[in-house]
Amino acid sequence: MAADYEMLIEQIKSLANASGNALPVMANASSLLFYGLSDINWAGFYMVSGDELILGPFQGRLACVVIKKGRGVCGTAFYKDEVQLVPDVHEFPGHIACDEASNSEVVIPLHDKNGKIRAVLDIDSPVKNRFSIEDLGGLVQFAYTLEKIIETW
Ligand code: SME
Repeated sequence: MAADYEMLIEQIKSLANASGNALPVMANASSLLFYGLSDINWAGFYMVSGDELILGPFQGRLACVVIKKGRGVCGTAFYKDEVQLVPDVHEFPGHIACDEASNSEVVIPLHDKNGKIRAVLDIDSPVKNRFSIEDLGGLVQFAYTLEKIIETW
């Protein structure tokens, strides 16, 4: 894994020592990703609420508040419970353009300790093809770390 991600994972682990409550962990995680990675214009979370996603902690410009299951990249990650790596968002059917600057993105589902999907992590870039397979591996490890350290959703 790239050194950047190892460092981000160590940082979020140490920050989580104070509380395993989802809200502060996610708030700090979005800041770590937004300021720790290059060429990122949005990093944050959408929380599962019934059949919808609602906006959670994030860094970046204002974002859509509600995303229906199956809609856009986040809604697809939720519906399929699968990681989405989108090299060019303009070619993704139904992509929701919250920030016109976004050109590529990664969305990773997060689960509680019973395996139930609770949120998605969404990271957007103004650069097409910003996320390599190595980035994806690092981000999946980061998300996996969040799943381990969050005790209360
Ligand atoms: N790009 C997302 C919408 C959320 S914003 O980009 C923050 C999507 O299509 O799901």
